[in-house]
Amino acid sequence: MARSLADEVRLGPVRLEVEHRMPGPEGGPTLRVRRLSDERELLRFDAFAEGGHWHLDPAGGDEITRLEPGLEPIDWLMDALRGDLPGWLARAGAPATPDPDEAARALDRVERALRNPPFDPDALEPGRLRAREGEKWQLYPDDVLPLWVADMDFPQAEPIRRRLTRAVANGDLGYPLHPLPSPLPGLFAERARRVWGLEADPARVELLADVMQGVHVALMRFTQPGDGVVIQTPIYPPFLSAAREHGLRVVESPLREGAEGFEVDLDDLRAKVDAGTRVLLLSAPHNPTGRVFRRDELEGMAEIACERDLLIVSDEIHADLVLAGARHIPIASLGPEVAARTLTLNSASKAFNIAGLRCAAALFGSDAMRERFQALPRHVRGGLNTLGIQATEAAWRHADPWLERVRAHLDANRDFVASFVREELPGVGHHPPEATYLAWLDCRELGLEPSPYRFFLDRARVALSDGRAFGPPGVGFVRLNFATSRAILREALERMAKALAAR
Ligand SMILES: Cc1ncc(COP(=O)(O)O)c(C=O)c1O
Repeated sequence: MARSLADEVRLGPVRLEVEHRMPGPEGGPTLRVRRLSDERELLRFDAFAEGGHWHLDPAGGDEITRLEPGLEPIDWLMDALRGDLPGWLARAGAPATPDPDEAARALDRVERALRNPPFDPDALEPGRLRAREGEKWQLYPDDVLPLWVADMDFPQAEPIRRRLTRAVANGDLGYPLHPLPSPLPGLFAERARRVWGLEADPARVELLADVMQGVHVALMRFTQPGDGVVIQTPIYPPFLSAAREHGLRVVESPLREGAEGFEVDLDDLRAKVDAGTRVLLLSAPHNPTGRVFRRDELEGMAEIACERDLLIVSDEIHADLVLAGARHIPIASLGPEVAARTLTLNSASKAFNIAGLRCAAALFGSDAMRERFQALPRHVRGGLNTLGIQATEAAWRHADPWLERVRAHLDANRDFVASFVREELPGVGHHPPEATYLAWLDCRELGLEPSPYRFFLDRARVALSDGRAFGPPGVGFVRLNFATSRAILREALERMAKALAAR
């Protein structure tokens, strides 16, 4: 029997028990209310996606109450219990009026457990992965293991899956409620405050189709052709193409490699920012190195931005993927002067593995910034995807237990990659990432021809991302995506080791 995370909570004369006995698209969790004195099951609610229903006192009359089709049974159940827990306990034959704080805590735990069945990131089915139509598993032939584009191989969190399934079942694919009212600005602001200590006013949050849209609109609205954009290479390649596409000068300030890893080179940054530089375009946490910038690095960058009057565009799409031992600090949280010049971009797409659904959030540092950004009409930017909005809401409201499980798996995979590279891939340099699921591998010493990317693709049948695309400092590197099962990751690394040994 699969038991959930927090599967039992005592409350007054009863115990609330969560069980995932009917997993799958039509099934769902069960909540039992059991009397402590005689262990009798007084109430049972089956939150099945198809046919949610109550059993009242099943050992006696077994009175069954069915929900209307189309309702989300877990939502219905939690509203019912939060609305009148004493009433439900009385109906079940265990009258009690629990302390409201204790009851609220118990119901929060029950809800987490109900919504998040146990999940094993190692239990991936190769047939399903190959059947996906996304680019990760489609671009290369079947004998290639794809560890390239930044999608994870794990199935989405159950709250997201249930939400999307229900939307399709209900025919809910019309225009979304947008721009307002939407719960997403408030949910984003709450998350920013709770997780990253960033004060965010929901009125300054705008929904976008994706994070790169935010980068492009910012470059369009806040620069003139020929202006400079500071970019810290190696970097997520669309940063470089975005600057080029808007006729901007890339002011390249490479990260400096020290014994412990890559760091912001503040002296270089200060020296390179000239009078025509307008924007500091930040990837924080940093793709591809996986760095989580320290407070002193962020303060140094913020100081330069304030001195030289730069707009900071801070792409924090990987902020929910910070691994054990690091803490993400949004640059906008450093103080009001920095916040006012920062456009923070984020989305649920990386951490919750829904990049194809197109929904992101922009947080403006000031009303003036918001107005200037929004002067590019929404129809030019394109509308939002109704499934993306729903999936993002489900992710931010309910899927953190899934994310915690994924991060634990990524922590372990990060350590596995680090020790494998050290022991089995001689000549490959590597600083384990502090965030993301990306390992940035330095193959320069090996002189692999025609490039490390081509070498591993041709000789190991493993598709990585070519470091060359990440700017000049990326030549001789590859980026490996370890968001997969241990079995696939091990197989890919073993193939790479064998190809190197056979040279
Ligand atoms: C740093 C960074 N920014 C943006 C993106 C893309 O985000 P979106 O699809 O929302 O534009 C990625 C995807 O990997 C990324 O790593």
